[in-house]
Amino acid sequence: MAQQPKKKQDVDTTGHEWDGIQEYNNPLPRWWLWIFYATIVWGIWYTIAYPAWPGIKNATAGYLGFSTRGQVAEEIAEFEAKLEPINAKLVAADLNEIRGNDELESYAVNAGAAVYRTWCAQCHGSGAAGAVGYPNLQDDAWLWGGSMEEIHYTVSHGIRNEEDPDAHWSQMPAFGADELLTEEEVQQVVNYVMSLSPVNPPVDASLVEAGAEVYEINCAACHGENAMGDKFQGAPNLSDAIWLYGGDYDSIYETVWNSRFGVMPPMGGAELTEAEIRAVTTYVHQLGGGQAPE
Ligand code: HEC
Ligand code: HEC
Repeated sequence: MAQQPKKKQDVDTTGHEWDGIQEYNNPLPRWWLWIFYATIVWGIWYTIAYPAWPGIKNATAGYLGFSTRGQVAEEIAEFEAKLEPINAKLVAADLNEIRGNDELESYAVNAGAAVYRTWCAQCHGSGAAGAVGYPNLQDDAWLWGGSMEEIHYTVSHGIRNEEDPDAHWSQMPAFGADELLTEEEVQQVVNYVMSLSPVNPPVDASLVEAGAEVYEINCAACHGENAMGDKFQGAPNLSDAIWLYGGDYDSIYETVWNSRFGVMPPMGGAELTEAEIRAVTTYVHQLGGGQAPE
């Protein structure tokens, strides 16, 4: 039988009365009350055990020493411990044998893609297609060389930076700003350079011949007799359709007049581990332009 609600007269009153209105004394059920007390005790324990009370700079730390950062660090450490054996293999392998070794290659490409997204994409683009001043890493045009060893060196030491004494280094003179060439000679050589590349025709074809002479004397030492570039100096090929700083008249003029100074930070040492550098090297090498060792 369902319990009947208590009748008015069965319930005691608290004895309070205001203007003829009395207050019933309906105590809370025991079970409810005990759970309520238990949650209070638990709540107090929780704020002592875990970070809880806000202070001026930090919250109280809690005696269990728990922190979400600590938890993440622990998870990362666990993850790294799992990867230790394969990273050790990657570091021990001959650079030229990573590609072609199924286990190492597939690991390196995956891990390298993650390293790339974190450390390289901001400059070379999320798809590695580069931007003005930042080379495309997918094609087979290389400033400093596209073999595993050459990419590994570039990534480890960087380019024209002060942090690493082994960084690639070279400097094209500022032919106009430093008065090595007259304005006329600059115009001539810019037209000559344009005549070499299939991208834009020279603006003034009558200057090309004189420009060839200016080139021979001033530029061939770095960019080569045939303008194919020189990877020992990071001097770009000027005869192809690929331009780091732009192949239109104004961009080439700017390059010759003021020069350029592309800087890449070194990733070796503090930034990336040797295994990470090898992984990202493998990733870049397999993007499409990777070259065989010489
Ligand atoms: C701060 C910007 C910056 C970051 C970050 C950066 N690079 Fe570079 N990188 C450059 C620039 C600029 C150059 C071209 C320098 C020059 O003009 O020679 C370059 C050149 C290169 C080259 C040489 C390309 C060639 O044609 O020889 C490779 C390979 C390379 N970067 C790979 C990487 C990888 C891999 C990472 C990430 C681990 C990375 N870079 C991170 C700016 C950056
Ligand atoms: C000392 C070596 C050196 C000499 C001499 C030199 N260059 Fe360069 N040149 C370079 C280097 C290195 C770069 C790449 C600079 C960078 O990436 O920061 C470059 C870049 C260029 C570029 C940009 C190419 C691109 O893809 O955007 C052009 C154009 C160029 N040089 C033209 C010339 C011309 C014309 C002369 C002669 C008047 C000349 N250079 C002389 C070393 C040289």
